[in-house]
Amino acid sequence: MSHNEPPVAPRRAIRRGLLVVVLLTVATGAAIVITNARLAAAPEQPIDYNHSTHIEAGIQCLYCHGQASRSAVAGIPSVERCMGCHMVIATEDETVQQLAAYWEQGEPIPWVPVNNQPDFVYFSHRPHLGGGINCETCHGDVGTMEQTKPVVRMDMGWCLDCHTDQEPEHVTRLTDCIACHK
Ligand code: HEC
Ligand code: HEC
Ligand code: HEC
Ligand code: HEC
Ligand code: HEC
Repeated sequence: MSHNEPPVAPRRAIRRGLLVVVLLTVATGAAIVITNARLAAAPEQPIDYNHSTHIEAGIQCLYCHGQASRSAVAGIPSVERCMGCHMVIATEDETVQQLAAYWEQGEPIPWVPVNNQPDFVYFSHRPHLGGGINCETCHGDVGTMEQTKPVVRMDMGWCLDCHTDQEPEHVTRLTDCIACHK
């Protein structure tokens, strides 16, 4: 037996090493799957709104989200704004008819939020658009999405990475806790 020991021990060590690698791979894989699952899920919306058709039709983001350049929120367009076009455009479409039903009942559409910061975070669109950052940097390529989904994990590290990268004389203000936690 003893003359067999030297070759066995390294083989065992290699096997154990492989097991560790496999477990790590499984763990990392699972973490990636969980991360993507949380980010990729597009919430079910009351109306099947499709950004890509509207962007292909040449409509600008700010036509529907115009508050973004002047306030904290970007805003979701009212039923009235949708109907400004859909009184005449695609009136035979089944989803457009669902939209028209909200209009006739004078009800707002209960859109489900896609990106949502906790209440203790202060975020405003205005300084970001003023700073020349475009929608895609933070929201991904929404203009090609059929269902709106989050593609960027908007956690504190993500905010701070960009704030630390700004002009040196602004970094202290932009990384101060009270900038984002009022
Ligand atoms: C015709 C109107 C219209 C246009 C144009 C439009 N959007 Fe939207 N947008 C909506 C509606 C309606 C919703 C809510 C339903 C949804 O989330 O899909 C929305 C939702 C969003 C959301 C998710 C909001 C949340 O809840 O977090 C983002 C981000 C967004 N739009 C970005 C954009 C960008 C970027 C563009 C330009 C490329 C754009 N939108 C153009 C109507 C529009
Ligand atoms: C610096 C990153 C950043 C940029 C640039 C940005 N957004 Fe946002 N957006 C966010 C964050 C963060 C939220 C979530 C805010 C919250 O929950 O308080 C959000 C939320 C939204 C929402 C849903 C809530 C609301 O404010 O109405 C819409 C719609 C939206 N963004 C559209 C846009 C559009 C359109 C543009 C470009 C004109 C844009 N965003 C640019 C980070 C950004
Ligand atoms: C500036 C004009 C305009 C506005 C505002 C507008 N739409 Fe549209 N919409 C269009 C055009 C153009 C099409 C494509 C029509 C076609 O392909 O026949 C379209 C298509 C649609 C369709 C058919 C399915 C699809 O995506 O092709 C739905 C549903 C729809 N829009 C919902 C909405 C909703 C909800 C709003 C408000 C949040 C809205 N639209 C605002 C112009 C507009
Ligand atoms: C891609 C870069 C980028 C990202 C990501 C980003 N910011 Fe900013 N932020 C900026 C820039 C640029 C300014 C304007 C800087 C200036 O006025 O000097 C700014 C300004 C601000 C301001 C105004 C601060 C002040 O005192 O004027 C707040 C609040 C803020 N950001 C919060 C956030 C939060 C919260 C997040 C994450 C959810 C975030 N930002 C993500 C680049 C970014
Ligand atoms: C540029 C914006 C920004 C700045 C500056 C900032 N935070 Fe945050 N913080 C956020 C955002 C966004 C979240 C929520 C997302 C998350 O939990 O990562 C958050 C979450 C937190 C949380 C909750 C974490 C959790 O796990 O729930 C704490 C605690 C916190 N911040 C403390 C601080 C302190 C202390 C400072 C100053 C040293 C600070 N933050 C500066 C953006 C910021």
